[in-house]
Amino acid sequence: MSYDRSVSAEQHALEPETVWHLQMPQIRFGRDAVEELGFQLGDLGVDEGAHGLVVTDENLAGIGHVDRVTDHLEDAGYDATVWKDVEREPSLEVVGECISFVRENEGEDGYDFYLGFGGGSCIDVAKTTRAVIANGGEALDYIAEPTGSGDALTESGPPLVLMPTTAGTGAEISPVAILSVEEQEIKEGISSNHIRADAAVLDPTFTTTLPPETTAKTAMDALGHAIEGYTTHPFDGLLRATDPQERPVYAGRTELTEMFSEKAIDLLSTNVRTAVHNGDDIEARAGMLKGALFGAIAGLTAGASLCHAMAYPVGNRYHTYHGETIAVLTPASTLGYNAASDPERFAEVSRLLGADTEGMGAREAADLAREEYVRLQRDLNVIPSGLNELAGITEDDIDWLASQTVETQQRLLRCNPRPVTEADATEIFRDALYNWE
Ligand SMILES: [Fe+2]
Repeated sequence: MSYDRSVSAEQHALEPETVWHLQMPQIRFGRDAVEELGFQLGDLGVDEGAHGLVVTDENLAGIGHVDRVTDHLEDAGYDATVWKDVEREPSLEVVGECISFVRENEGEDGYDFYLGFGGGSCIDVAKTTRAVIANGGEALDYIAEPTGSGDALTESGPPLVLMPTTAGTGAEISPVAILSVEEQEIKEGISSNHIRADAAVLDPTFTTTLPPETTAKTAMDALGHAIEGYTTHPFDGLLRATDPQERPVYAGRTELTEMFSEKAIDLLSTNVRTAVHNGDDIEARAGMLKGALFGAIAGLTAGASLCHAMAYPVGNRYHTYHGETIAVLTPASTLGYNAASDPERFAEVSRLLGADTEGMGAREAADLAREEYVRLQRDLNVIPSGLNELAGITEDDIDWLASQTVETQQRLLRCNPRPVTEADATEIFRDALYNWE
């Protein structure tokens, strides 16, 4: 076993990790869970009469979903102000506007509670706003150097509740907020347990209005978290952390994350066709929301790997949707290059995706995962056939993408079950140009 992927141990203390840890917000899940929003806030210690901020977008306000949320808050005795200016792939400027809005209306102390309602963008703006109000300064202060100042968050702030309306990103439980830095054309994250929400309330009735394309793209992100988390290295394949504080956020798979991965792959692959083609099917929508939650509990604890590492340079340069980028890269990376790292485990992925592996050897059964996954994507009818269709990427663009992946994404590559050189990354990008003709 190799321990060279470790992060936090002293170089001389070459001992395997023996401890794992799971930190999660409170989770409330199910149809009409929105009706328990008042109870949830009370349980977090928010008194009646408290004044909160709902961070959301125009679209969700326009179709009446936001009113449904604020009606429940008001019925429970809370006062809610709505800020609905979140954009897709939110920039530092948008977060800055939300923070200024809070300071102008409520002063430096801000609101008594925060509610992020929407897709990953709304959720990340809500997370960042609460964190910056509680810790002072601006968002850039807490983004890693050299882009930001790299200050550590030391306060969590008043209660934050997150309600996702897409089944995908897992931002409602994750310790990260992703923001784009416009002038540099890059995305940066603020990563800290202080940015994690206090509670996630997941109600599938808000997801039936998601259009087929968004349903498919967000589903592929969720499936990516589940499969990457299931196939990353085990936690005891890392070096032992000399200080529990230093244990990385992506700490390898455990028996617990494996259980969540298995259930997530099953739920997502079973329900995604119905959710995309018949969006009103509440059972399928509930299956997707649960699958995405389980995928996030697994993948965003154990760690995303090669596919997510390759997706960031593509997204930064071509401004593609995260989920769609993951969809296009998964066959060549996670299910192609990585399958050789552990055929037995990938054979299990094939079965979880619904393939019949009866009578096959492990290697043959492992290779079937890629076929089954591509079949699923083609059935959805809205996923591009490869990097070329996604953003017009050709052979000429591959060298840049491969060098960016290896140079800037070591945080994720370190978690990959197979080492990846620049030459390997070049081959994998080439393989991802066309997943089907
Ligand atoms: Fe993701």
